[in-house]
Formats: sequence, structure tokens, C-alpha cells
Amino acid sequence: MIRDWSRFIGGRVALVTGAGAGVGRAIALQLARAGAAVWVNDLHAERAEKVCAEIGEEGGEARPVVADVCDREAVVRMHTETGPLDILVNNAGIPPEGITVKPFVETGPEDWDPLIRLNLAAVLGVTRAYLPGMIERRWGRILTVTSDAGRRGERKQVVYGAAKAAAMGFSRGLAAEVGRHGVTVNCIALGTMRHGALAEAIERHPELGARLARAYPVGRLGEVEDPAPLAVLLCSDAASWITGQVYPVDGGYFPAL
Ligand SMILES: NC(=O)c1ccc[n+]([C@@H]2O[C@H](COP(=O)([O-])OP(=O)(O)OC[C@H]3O[C@@H](n4cnc5c(N)ncnc54)[C@H](O)[C@@H]3O)[C@@H](O)[C@H]2O)c1
Repeated sequence: MIRDWSRFIGGRVALVTGAGAGVGRAIALQLARAGAAVWVNDLHAERAEKVCAEIGEEGGEARPVVADVCDREAVVRMHTETGPLDILVNNAGIPPEGITVKPFVETGPEDWDPLIRLNLAAVLGVTRAYLPGMIERRWGRILTVTSDAGRRGERKQVVYGAAKAAAMGFSRGLAAEVGRHGVTVNCIALGTMRHGALAEAIERHPELGARLARAYPVGRLGEVEDPAPLAVLLCSDAASWITGQVYPVDGGYFPAL
């Protein structure tokens, strides 16, 4: 029974990939507020360091770890640097060049490969690196950030959605394999966030934001902070009987059965 919710994952060590901005930054902050020591991974050292400084200012514990999660050797080096983890959040999913928003028929392998590498291959690679330590210690939480583009399907984001759907399938299968070792594996599937290039476009054209928000029963797009509370809960002891699931965090855009 958890009595002190303020530090209810105290003592756990977590890594959040792509945590230098956006959803990953918000999850890293919330994990640290709940008591975890957090490794903040990003491609960019200055972003990871800034998030660690923010966490430090709040009295939390965080360290940066720079690695491209698509680069297998970099993942091995990251694992050596961090040591074993209790909690892995596979969050990185938007390549630096962004997501191709084009009809599939106008795309080619040069558009597909970066999306598949980051949203599927990197999830496998990073999970493979950290899973043995979790199995050995008989406790682990693996959470992958996916998208309604993979759960429902979206025009012009077909391959991104396919890679996310594959990551969800991977998580379900892995959950069945490792549950008996005390390791849970889940996903959160996000709707559209008012973040990054989209936030800038909405700033310039507020009618775009209003039009997009109409598809959401709660009447607004997501904020990057919205997924963090559920992410922390799924990474806690309290969620030991929750595994192999995909939870939408999407303002009701595409309800799960
Ligand atoms: N933003 C949305 O509307 C939205 C919607 C649905 C799902 N998602 C998912 O949420 C997750 C986070 O998205 P976001 O919009 O916060 O991302 P973002 O674009 O803000 O990127 C976050 C960080 O990831 C880092 N990153 C990118 N590639 C990396 C790599 N190869 N290795 C290490 N770090 C890397 C970037 O440097 C950046 O600092 C992704 O998995 C994304 O697919 C986002």
C-alpha cells in the first residue's frame, strides 16, 4: 500500500529517452518529483543538461546521458554509463528532421527508414540493453510512448503509425515473456500535442488550433505535461498487475475498447 504519494517511486533509477524536450522532459520531471533518480537522455547535451538543472532546482536527482538511441554502439556506451535501471521510458520518437506528413504514395524508403529506426528498432535496441538487469533484479518497468497514429491510423502519417503499432505489438509480446520476472511492459498512446512546430503554426494561425481541437471530446489538443502522471503510475509498484497494455492519453480522440 502506498501511503506517501509524493515519493512513491523513491529509490528507483529511471532513464527517459529523448527527454531534452516535450513529452519526455515532462515525464522525466514527474518521475523525479515522485522520487526517482533520473537519467535524461537526448541527442543534444545542452537540452539534457538544462532538464537536469530544472530537476535539480526542484530538489530532484537527475543526470544527463547523451546518445543517439538509433546508434547501437551509442546505446551500449549509454548502458555502461548508466548501469542497470529499474525504469525505462522509450520516449524518443520524432526524428530531428521531423515526421514526413505526406500521402504514402508520395513517400519512399528515405522517408520510412528514419521513422522505423527510431520508433521500432531503437525501442528494441534500448530495451534489449536494459532488460537483462531488470530480469536479474526481478523488478522492472518498461514504458513506450506511442501514438494514436499507430492505434487508430492517420492519413499522411502511415509509416510513423506502422512503426508505433509495431512497438505496441512488441510490448504486448514482451510483457507475456517477462511478467514472471517482475518486469511490466506497457505503452501510452498519445493524441496530438500543442508542441514544437505545430505550436508555432497555431501561434501564427489560431484557427488551425481551433479546427484540430474540434476532434477532441475534451475540446483541446494535448499539452506535453498531460501524459506524465499516468507514465509515473505505470512505472510504480502500484502498477505491478498492469502489463501488456496500451493506454490512450488523447483527450478522448480514439477511445480504447
Ligand atoms: N508531439 C505530439 O503531438 C505527439 C503525438 C503523439 C505521440 N508523440 C510521441 O511522443 C514522444 C515524444 O514526442 P515529442 O513531440 O515530445 O518529441 P520532441 O520532438 O519534442 O523531441 C524530444 C527530444 O527527443 C530527442 N531525440 C530525437 N531523436 C533522438 C534520438 N535518436 N536519440 C535520442 N534523443 C532523440 C530530441 O533531440 C528532442 O530533444 C514521441 O515518441 C512521439 O512519437 C508525440
